[in-house]
Amino acid sequence: MKLNIAVLPGDGIGPEIVDEALKVTKAVASKFGHELSYEFGLTGASAIDQVGEPYPEDTHQLCMNSDAVLFGAIGDPKFDNNPKAKVRPEQGLLAMRKKLGLYANIRPLTIFKSLLDKSPLKTELVDGADFVCIRELTGGIYFGRPQGRAEDGNTAYDTCVYTREEIERILKLGFEFAGKRRKKLTVVDKANVLCTSRLWREIAQEMAPQYPDIELEYMFVDNAAMQIIQWPKKFDVMVTENMFGDILTDEASVISGSLGLLPSASIGIHTSVFEPIHGSYPQAAGKNIANPNATILSAAMMFEYAFNLKEEAALIRAAVEQSIEEGVVTEDLAGEGKACSTSEIGDWVVDYIEKN
Ligand code: IPM
Ligand code: MG
Repeated sequence: MKLNIAVLPGDGIGPEIVDEALKVTKAVASKFGHELSYEFGLTGASAIDQVGEPYPEDTHQLCMNSDAVLFGAIGDPKFDNNPKAKVRPEQGLLAMRKKLGLYANIRPLTIFKSLLDKSPLKTELVDGADFVCIRELTGGIYFGRPQGRAEDGNTAYDTCVYTREEIERILKLGFEFAGKRRKKLTVVDKANVLCTSRLWREIAQEMAPQYPDIELEYMFVDNAAMQIIQWPKKFDVMVTENMFGDILTDEASVISGSLGLLPSASIGIHTSVFEPIHGSYPQAAGKNIANPNATILSAAMMFEYAFNLKEEAALIRAAVEQSIEEGVVTEDLAGEGKACSTSEIGDWVVDYIEKN
């Protein structure tokens, strides 16, 4: 099969972790006889530095003309500490999501048995936890207008907006995912306060009869934040709006022992994007110490979701699992043991793929 991908490394550790994921992608493609072609594109702070905008039109065209996008991370402290900056790297990510119509971000939480002791939670709470968060990605307070500052500069506002169409399509995905898993769907909202959340709930109630085999529950977001920590095993599929999903998935990711393990797939209308859920970790940039596994596992999601190549995806997952099992881990997971470098992890995974 022809695999034509766009590679957007971005900022901070982005280039290093994407290098490893690309190495793994190449190894899998050659093992299974696929013809891989790829092209790099600019995004984030590095794009601002080079061409003045964080998601240049060239990059957008590249994404539109590819079958999948492998994405690293964006963000740079020089912008974080300058609230007056007119152009910000994050705008690039948001523009990409919006222009590609990526309305759903799928973030699976998997626990690696050999890392149970790295979880900040007690082993008996996390052992067996396995859920997916489906985060709405192109609506809500991230994109609602008006957004801005009043003329005197002392009042600022963001607007949370959701339309029926946006809610229906993401809930549909939530029901379908639950149908393929343990058949439980949790709709997370703040319907006791927010009008948008009440519309989410109303639509979920209308849709429920079409999915009689799905157990549907509603949960306020503050309660969900608590239950993820207290009973992570009770969740199967969680569906929620953009900002709640952003926050809850960072929380959920550390349950597995490291933020560096959680991959994601952003899917919707045009080309899907595969990216780790973590940020650009600028303190580690260029040091070859960051954990590349979230990006390598995002490449696995790419094989599965963009190309429907499940065996290839499974082999990448098996390789990552085995590397962790054998203690081949970066410093975030090494504890007292030896820490491997970013590229050593990629090399190990490639070697496993070639031999298995
Ligand atoms: C994420 C990130 C982004 C988001 C930032 C970098 C804009 O935190 O993908 O979760 O908030 O969506
Ligand atoms: Mg986030």
